[in-house]
Amino acid sequence: MAIKIAFANHKGGVGKTVCVVNTAHRLAKMGFKVLVVDCDAQGNATSTLGAGKEPLSYPAAQTLSAIFSIEADTPSLSSLAIPTKTEGLSFIPNNLDIYSSITNLGESPRKFFGISRAYEMSPKDFDFILFDTPPSLEGVLLTNALIATDHVIIVVESESTYALSGIKNLIKAIVGLNREITHQTSILGYLLTKFDGRTNAAKTLKNAATELFGVERLFDTGIPNSTKVNQSIMKGEMICDFDPEGNICKAFKSFTQELLNRLDINKPGE
Ligand SMILES: Nc1ncnc2c1ncn2[C@@H]1O[C@H](COP(=O)(O)OP(=O)(O)OP(=O)(O)O)[C@@H](O)[C@H]1O
Ligand SMILES: [Mg+2]
Repeated sequence: MAIKIAFANHKGGVGKTVCVVNTAHRLAKMGFKVLVVDCDAQGNATSTLGAGKEPLSYPAAQTLSAIFSIEADTPSLSSLAIPTKTEGLSFIPNNLDIYSSITNLGESPRKFFGISRAYEMSPKDFDFILFDTPPSLEGVLLTNALIATDHVIIVVESESTYALSGIKNLIKAIVGLNREITHQTSILGYLLTKFDGRTNAAKTLKNAATELFGVERLFDTGIPNSTKVNQSIMKGEMICDFDPEGNICKAFKSFTQELLNRLDINKPGE
């Protein structure tokens, strides 16, 4: 069985996609088999993992749309996985075409359980499945990801004064869904991004987040704010390939280790 983790926050631009792809990359480098499912029709994870290839250039049958296609049976997640140049890391692309598939599905249960069912058809092919989710609280794709996943990591942007407002709505949505599904999706923790520990604003936010979520729920590691992030995206590279000795790569290594500790998981083969 894979361990499934959705990175979520319905606020846009907080760093979800950057955290998903770079955590997935780190896990793959450690020897795990990792799948990223791009649940955001913007296709940002798709273009990052697909080395800059335009999301709309993937044929619908090879994207997440296939799971919602009324014209075919649900395919397995594995059958849609596209390998990346990093060994052990693959992804399922997404693009704006998915909306017409979802609309055509009408009120079929697949509309909300599609990804979950696609996972159940090949549950053993990956060690980790990470879901990148869209910046919206209402919506079929976020709901699909929250139903399919075991855990949620809430990504909190440290730069914004309003970073903490609205998170309780996301928590409410998760608790509400848990009443409707057989397993319980847990909030594994809160990850601070774009964090600059030298500024008072970031320190204040960290204190407020600790108070709100509890010290044991906030990951110790914050992902620093760095121009290297955008530079690596523009070059179509993962951060630890682009700047292996830099602070951001170190932060992703340390965050991934914390994640594994929290899940009580050893390196593959240990
Ligand atoms: N640690 C960081 N330091 C500096 N810039 C960052 C960092 N993380 C993300 N960014 C930048 O912030 C922007 C938003 O990041 P990202 O796309 O990961 O956010 P998102 O939450 O996935 O957005 P959306 O909600 O639109 O999907 C991007 O330009 C990205 O390069
Ligand atoms: Mg994103």
